[in-house]
Amino acid sequence: MTAESLADLRAQFPVLSRLAYLNAGTNGPIASVAAAASRAQIELEEREGRGGMPFFVGYRDMMERQRAGYAAYLGAPVEQVALTSSTTDGVGRVLVSLNLQPGDEILTSDEEHPGVTGPLAGQRARGVEVRTAPLAQLAEAIGPRTKLVACSHVSWRSGALAPTAALAQAPPLVLLDGAQGVGAVPIDVAELGADFYAGSGQKWLCGPTGSGMLWVSPQARERLTVPTPGYLNLADPAAGLDAEPRADAGAFDTPALSSVALAHAVAMLELFEQTGWDAIHRRAHDLAELAARRLAERGRTVLPRDRTTLVSWYEDDAPARSEALLEAGVVVRFLPGDELLRASFGGWSDEQDLERLLEALPA
Ligand SMILES: Cc1ncc(COP(=O)(O)O)c(C=O)c1O
Repeated sequence: MTAESLADLRAQFPVLSRLAYLNAGTNGPIASVAAAASRAQIELEEREGRGGMPFFVGYRDMMERQRAGYAAYLGAPVEQVALTSSTTDGVGRVLVSLNLQPGDEILTSDEEHPGVTGPLAGQRARGVEVRTAPLAQLAEAIGPRTKLVACSHVSWRSGALAPTAALAQAPPLVLLDGAQGVGAVPIDVAELGADFYAGSGQKWLCGPTGSGMLWVSPQARERLTVPTPGYLNLADPAAGLDAEPRADAGAFDTPALSSVALAHAVAMLELFEQTGWDAIHRRAHDLAELAARRLAERGRTVLPRDRTTLVSWYEDDAPARSEALLEAGVVVRFLPGDELLRASFGGWSDEQDLERLLEALPA
């Protein structure tokens, strides 16, 4: 892959000509092809209505293309991937479906996003015990009552990777929050050794808000009940009260997805596939590494990180600084709880974005 095609990719994102947009860790930028696909879809529906067979055939086709795109990214068979509305949705679906009981324990890290801590708090309210340990030490912290380890694949605070190899060797089920993983780092989900992988579509895949995925391993599938069976989740919806869930991971699909959002998601996945994920990852990781080095040279303390897309550092009065950066045309994330700012680098980013960030920071 040549720099030229990464330049072509960058040119697809109008926002990048105005802003140093370094916040894909929240929401990725939107490419013109995806905006055009969304417009075309809503105009089609405005013109043709949404009731006939062609609409439903097109809708199902987009769902399956989105699923296939996610499955290809994860290196998983398409039958193992469900379409969700978010990482939080996927995490919640697994936790509800596992039906853990009082006396069971879930182990998590002390740096999880509310997309994990929220659903875990729900489990605690049901009497399931939830214990925390540092992300790097999760495998050693597993106890005799630990039924599930639920943690980030990539920490949203630091960009550090979870100890997936050690977790894969341990007896409990493992649920990875892949919000900062999918689209950001290469994934072979079977090799990761987890049982469940929940990810977001709107971050590093630059899809619509309300998109995401849940991978369920074939062994773990047998442990789950289907949380929200509905028309699209059933093998034979006409069977009424006797209807059984689909045998594939489609049983875990969110019951309703927006057709306009599907058009957006599919267009983005196709754009990235044309560009090639290897080149996208290499550019993003190299730039993030460079950013970490340059920030350290500027006297900033950068949180220990791995080869990922996120760089977080301590900054005095971080909320005010993130506002001042925005005024200077640089979009980063203030992380609550600490005086931390976080910059997100994608395959669409370039050195100019980093220079704008560095110039806008006080010496
Ligand atoms: C690590 C992590 N988990 C979960 C989430 C929530 O993602 P979603 O909005 O797709 O549920 C985020 C969002 O920033 C995140 O960074």
